[in-house]
Amino acid sequence: MGQVVETGIGQAIMETVEGSAIRYSDYVFSPGNPWAGGCAWIEGEYVPAANARISIFDAGFGHSDVTYTVASVWHGNIFRLEEHVDRFLAGASRMRLEAPLSKHDIMAIMKECVSRSELREAYVNVSLTRGFGSKPGEKNNQALTSQLYAYSIPYLWVFNPAEQIHGVSAIIAREVRRAGANCIDPWIKNYQWGDLVRAGYEAQDRGARTAFLLDADGFVTEGPGFNICMVQAGRLLTPQRNVLPGITRKTALEIARSLGVEVELCDICARQLLAADEVFTTTTAGGVTPVVMVEGVPIGTGKVGPITTAIRDRYWALMDEPSDLIDSIDYRLDA
Ligand SMILES: Cc1ncc(COP(=O)(O)O)c(C=O)c1O
Repeated sequence: MGQVVETGIGQAIMETVEGSAIRYSDYVFSPGNPWAGGCAWIEGEYVPAANARISIFDAGFGHSDVTYTVASVWHGNIFRLEEHVDRFLAGASRMRLEAPLSKHDIMAIMKECVSRSELREAYVNVSLTRGFGSKPGEKNNQALTSQLYAYSIPYLWVFNPAEQIHGVSAIIAREVRRAGANCIDPWIKNYQWGDLVRAGYEAQDRGARTAFLLDADGFVTEGPGFNICMVQAGRLLTPQRNVLPGITRKTALEIARSLGVEVELCDICARQLLAADEVFTTTTAGGVTPVVMVEGVPIGTGKVGPITTAIRDRYWALMDEPSDLIDSIDYRLDA
């Protein structure tokens, strides 16, 4: 496990693992900045993350009537922001939720939260809820005003840097299946995490780090906060249905293709996954993580595989390389 280091107001970083491509920036916060270390945008105002509060009557809380996305900032660069906001707004439209702000304004608010927080490595969340009405507990959707919330806080890891270097173990959940697109549309990034949380506890009970979920037809889907990819005979395979179209997965597939690895979105059953040469997960909150054991069975050699390693290291290199994928945050340090 990576060593957690507290560095100041609300900021915790993981110690860089030896041989790792994952390195934090070295900087200090400006004294007297109330947003340093975490900034949120709630009901039209920027507030320190520690004071971020929303109404208990928001249908996003009561009915999970909400969609969201999480973008990441690494070395002061925000990654694929526009694609995150495009997916976010497309999901909102699928659930008939209208954003009160334009795409441009949403992107500007997310970047402003990062700038005020001064965080060079940040987890940047934007959520759109059905909102609340003038009457406490109002349930009539027509009487609700949708709300957009955003925040920038220190980078959160689904899998920490050490796990991304050394790999993790997983189970295939037996107690719970992933809700399918005919129940909760996984294409819309959502907080209906009942199945994912149950699977996470099952993994804990069975001594594994995380869980993969099958859908009702027995095909591999995703896990708590990540997509799943496998490598078999030099080809990269990943589930085509009942999963969120992850932006990190898209990046991993692009990297794979650039390395000459053939990629296919298809149905994958548990048996196929266990026979894979390599397995890895992808998520904004933690990049590319090798999975070296599933159901107690070593994957391939039981060691982190070469294709996973190449994709992981290239993914982190992209955070620094000037390209259309990154947008540098203006920290206005002299303001
Ligand atoms: C259920 C689920 N699948 C996949 C992902 C990965 O998506 P992305 O790479 O866009 O972060 C996430 C991220 O939070 C998730 O919650």
